[in-house]
Amino acid sequence: MKALVVGSGGREHALAWKIAKSPKISKVFCAPGNGGTRLVAENVPISETDIPALADFAVKEEIDLTVVGPEIPLSLGIVDEFEKRGLRIFGPSKKAVELEASKVFAKQFMDRHRIPTGKFRIADSPESARAVLAGGEFGFPVVLKADGLAAGKGVLVCRNEEEAEAGVKEIMVEKRFGGAGGRILIEEFLRGREVSFIVIADGAKAIPLVTTMDHKTVFDGGKGPNTGGMGSISPSPFLDRKMYARIMSTIILPTVTRMLEEGRKYKGALYAGLMLTADGPKVLEYNCRFGDPETQPQMLRLESDFVDLLMASIAEDILADEVTWNRRAAGCVVLASGGYPGSYEKGKTIQGLEDADRLGAVVFHAGTKFEKGRYRTEGGRVLGVCAAEPRLSETMNRIYRAVEKISFEGMHYRRDIGAFESAP
Ligand code: AMP
Ligand code: GLY
Repeated sequence: MKALVVGSGGREHALAWKIAKSPKISKVFCAPGNGGTRLVAENVPISETDIPALADFAVKEEIDLTVVGPEIPLSLGIVDEFEKRGLRIFGPSKKAVELEASKVFAKQFMDRHRIPTGKFRIADSPESARAVLAGGEFGFPVVLKADGLAAGKGVLVCRNEEEAEAGVKEIMVEKRFGGAGGRILIEEFLRGREVSFIVIADGAKAIPLVTTMDHKTVFDGGKGPNTGGMGSISPSPFLDRKMYARIMSTIILPTVTRMLEEGRKYKGALYAGLMLTADGPKVLEYNCRFGDPETQPQMLRLESDFVDLLMASIAEDILADEVTWNRRAAGCVVLASGGYPGSYEKGKTIQGLEDADRLGAVVFHAGTKFEKGRYRTEGGRVLGVCAAEPRLSETMNRIYRAVEKISFEGMHYRRDIGAFESAP
């Protein structure tokens, strides 16, 4: 079989790496891929948003299985287009992606079906947003969210009236998050531990992947602005069996079955961002894709054939007992460009990758480019240095020893990944 992975981040490198290990797979392509995916796949210079070109390529190359990493092509209807052309593709249809593409849809959906989430109001003008805030229903801090896709941004936690007023302006008047600012969600601020709960759904059923924990802020100890994720570990230290079962029965299974009832059959990866509050787990948001950097440690723990799992979702027939995981503790530390998550420069030469390999780390590339025999930086999150050992402390030691070997101008990373006591 031939496979195509769409996207260019660390998640896509990890997906392509695991897919390439399947005995069923003879060739993997990655569009557009990065400096690292070329080691496990053939990079194809097609943008992840050029759906017709991707579909033409899949027809021409007789691709048997396409897997999509990022949400944008999914929200543009890549699954619908591939299916129309008789191509096998893993992921949710455009109608199902609404769970991520519209935060308002997601909140109303949870409300209709009593899926636990924080209290909220929807406002479609700055005046109505101000009226809700003046009502004081949620107190402070209060959370403001732009409605549409805003590339992981578009969420503001406001500590007082001034910040809330500035937030309304930013989202709805200045439209800093683009079209996503037409409607705004005003939400109760939830307190607790944050957990990424990721499953694979087949339209009617869902099986969870091993648990993970993401480290979202840019600096150690939960400080600084949020990023796409500066590191992750698996398993999550905060999910016991009881909580796991509760999340499946009160959140994941109702989501999949209610989506089916509403004519939005959900197939593919479903990522529920949860807060474990004193009142139980509540949904912060849904993502219609795998996590980045959660996928990297998950792929290091998956023992069974990933392609079987992806194909089972497409065939609407997944069975949990066919998926096996190792019991190691896996981790990923992201090495980022100077300035990330703000603006940063590209094109810095990366050194020390072979030494990191020699120390037994698995390095997944994210924002890298291979040019004239060298790797250069090409994005904000540049590399994810990963390992999986019997104990988390051994894993993190191996990773940080490998990290010390790698360098590029401006490189920064968190030193407390896996030291979760100090990192809420
Ligand atoms: P989202 O894109 O909706 O996941 O929001 C990004 C981040 O903002 C989340 O990962 C949380 O850390 C934080 N966040 C979002 N909504 C809330 C909320 N209602 N209460 C507390 N924190 C939140
Ligand atoms: N690591 C967060 C995400 O994938 O959305």
